[in-house]
Amino acid sequence: MAKLRLHGKVAIITGAASGIGEATARLFVEHGAFVVIADIQDALGQKVVSSIDSDKVVYKHCDISDESQVEELISYTIQKYGSLDIMYSNAGIMGSSARLLEMDMASFDKSIAINLRGAVLVVKYAGAEMVENKIRGSIICTGSVSATAGANGPFGYTVCKHAILGIVRAAASELGKHGIRVNCVSPSGVATPLSCATYNSSASEVEMFSATMSGLKGIILKTEHVAEAALFLASDESLYINGHNLAVDGGVSTMNTGLAMMQDSFMK
Ligand SMILES: NC(=O)c1ccc[n+]([C@@H]2O[C@H](COP(=O)([O-])OP(=O)(O)OC[C@H]3O[C@@H](n4cnc5c(N)ncnc54)[C@H](O)[C@@H]3O)[C@@H](O)[C@H]2O)c1
Repeated sequence: MAKLRLHGKVAIITGAASGIGEATARLFVEHGAFVVIADIQDALGQKVVSSIDSDKVVYKHCDISDESQVEELISYTIQKYGSLDIMYSNAGIMGSSARLLEMDMASFDKSIAINLRGAVLVVKYAGAEMVENKIRGSIICTGSVSATAGANGPFGYTVCKHAILGIVRAAASELGKHGIRVNCVSPSGVATPLSCATYNSSASEVEMFSATMSGLKGIILKTEHVAEAALFLASDESLYINGHNLAVDGGVSTMNTGLAMMQDSFMK
């Protein structure tokens, strides 16, 4: 039997009714954690809980843009499992695909309310709980390749994902004083309901597009790969890692893949 890397730890994962969060919830439970799946898709969240079929996982409705619901999520977790060791702030939306010049500010505000303000609320209340109870916890946020470069996603999404790195770095500094680590996982395109809806494409089309853009060939990025990175940051194997942005993107954020493709075509 492989080592249980989160044995007895208590974790909350936001946006875990689907996609990356769901894969991470499955992996965390497999590694011995108690997991609270927090999401707004109640039926789907309950379905994930039933399919995991363990007394170590529950669903709790939480809209991360609503401060009182985030506070309630933390109290619920403490009542249910007695602690909070890991917070994975993963919920997010792609939001409006409008470009800057066509952006209507109401849809921009919605992206900010969920992707940015929501993440701040989640990190703030998780951090407060850990500090109060002297828990040397791990907080993880989902960034994106859109956190470090433009033209990887819509305008509003790119702005919010850049800000996620700001949240992670500022919180890593403030909470590090209490022994709490704050890190980021930044995937490139992975087939989930979010990416399929954004590109109006099937899962295999999203995967093909992502593989074409990737600098690492012969492998398709899956939600499970992102979950493994989150597991590393949640576990004691990353005990001295703080304020880090762990790219899970086949190296695409460190390469000029467009130029590489041109070179392959023209510099034979
Ligand atoms: N799929 C990709 O290609 C990709 C790449 C990089 C980063 N990401 C990021 O990964 C994270 C997870 O996305 P995913 O691709 O798994 O998509 P997904 O749509 O499968 O999952 C996102 C989940 O967040 C939930 N959610 C949305 N708004 C919420 C709110 N206000 N409160 C609580 N939950 C809410 C949704 O109900 C959904 O279950 C997001 O932060 C996304 O930006 C995704």
